[in-house]
Amino acid sequence: MKDIIIDTPAQKSVIHCGEGAFEKYAPGLALRQVFVVTDSNVFAWYRHDIWRVLGGDVPIYIIPAGEPSKSIRYLTAILREMLSHGMKRTCTVVAFGGGVVGDLAGLAASLFMRGVRLVQIPTTLLAQVDSSVGGKTAIDFEGVKNVIGTFYQPEEVIVDPRFLSTLPDREIRCGLGEIVKYGALNSRIYELLLQNKADLKSTAFLEEITYHCIKHKADVVTEDEYDLNGVRKTLNLGHTTGHALELCYRKKSHGEYVLIGAYYELYIAEKLNICGKNYADSLRELITAVIKKVPVYEDVATAAKLAKFDKKNTDANVSLIVPQSEGKSAEIKLSLEEYIKLLEECSADLKEGK
Ligand SMILES: NC(=O)c1ccc[n+]([C@@H]2O[C@H](COP(=O)([O-])OP(=O)(O)OC[C@H]3O[C@@H](n4cnc5c(N)ncnc54)[C@H](O)[C@@H]3O)[C@@H](O)[C@H]2O)c1
Repeated sequence: MKDIIIDTPAQKSVIHCGEGAFEKYAPGLALRQVFVVTDSNVFAWYRHDIWRVLGGDVPIYIIPAGEPSKSIRYLTAILREMLSHGMKRTCTVVAFGGGVVGDLAGLAASLFMRGVRLVQIPTTLLAQVDSSVGGKTAIDFEGVKNVIGTFYQPEEVIVDPRFLSTLPDREIRCGLGEIVKYGALNSRIYELLLQNKADLKSTAFLEEITYHCIKHKADVVTEDEYDLNGVRKTLNLGHTTGHALELCYRKKSHGEYVLIGAYYELYIAEKLNICGKNYADSLRELITAVIKKVPVYEDVATAAKLAKFDKKNTDANVSLIVPQSEGKSAEIKLSLEEYIKLLEECSADLKEGK
């Protein structure tokens, strides 16, 4: 088991990673006034662990599983429940679940009485490698993803691979989506991905790569906690197009859209000569090792227009973080027309099997 620390002026965040982290660190929470937020699936699998570790009478709010719960409706419901259970300023919100639970409960913790302690216990691969770390909280609002939120560091994150044993295969793929994104940003992660390409879902590999991804994110967040100096936005690789497709189609999960977004954005980078062919081929192979068939979008323009809501945009152009070379990314700005044209070309090439 290893610890990673994010030490920012606002809050020190300790991330405990490894098998056994839950049994070692969660019982300590029983000594505090805690309020648990989880979702219906996680509760079904792990309610006995919650009760065993935190007591049978611990207040729990259970949201319906899925992205639609990342909403103002469930945010207010959680805050109302916290109030009615007499939560004090010294209480701790425990976000026990995937990224949806983490983002929503994190936002509630940052708002209740101007901010109470937050502990994340991520139970999906995606939440373990990415969303539980770094302090971004959010809900979706008026059809726009993550448009309301705060920066609010969890005091502790308990990352235990034991929770992955009940995760559907598709959710493992979603986590791998974010892991491949890290691969495009960090040479060591890229190397590990290439070495393990034949068996990316093995337990030992996932535990090792999770540590490296969290370490990468921790270093980035330490350097640019509030996404101000350009370092943190590199973590957005694949997300501009991914979020736009997610908002438009809502058929797949966040991690899958990130990977599809990364594929389309890699195509753009290669077309614009930002990324060389050899590296593009190798990264493409990694992406398609996780998502076998990248979808063709007949009407990609409708989705692309949603990219104008992306928080990176500072003018009428669409800002993208694209792969450049091993461990290196670049920010580019395209007019909406140019962006749509390149996405359409990528989709047409995919359709022709190129
Ligand atoms: N804050 C950030 O920095 C950040 C970064 C990346 C993604 N996100 C957000 O994270 C969300 C996606 O997170 P996610 O992929 O974890 O989705 P999720 O929370 O919806 O979980 C995916 C599914 O897995 C189920 N599940 C969770 N843990 C399980 C377990 N151990 N066993 C069985 N089933 C389990 C859930 O009930 C759900 O059905 C998106 O809303 C995205 O915007 C946030």
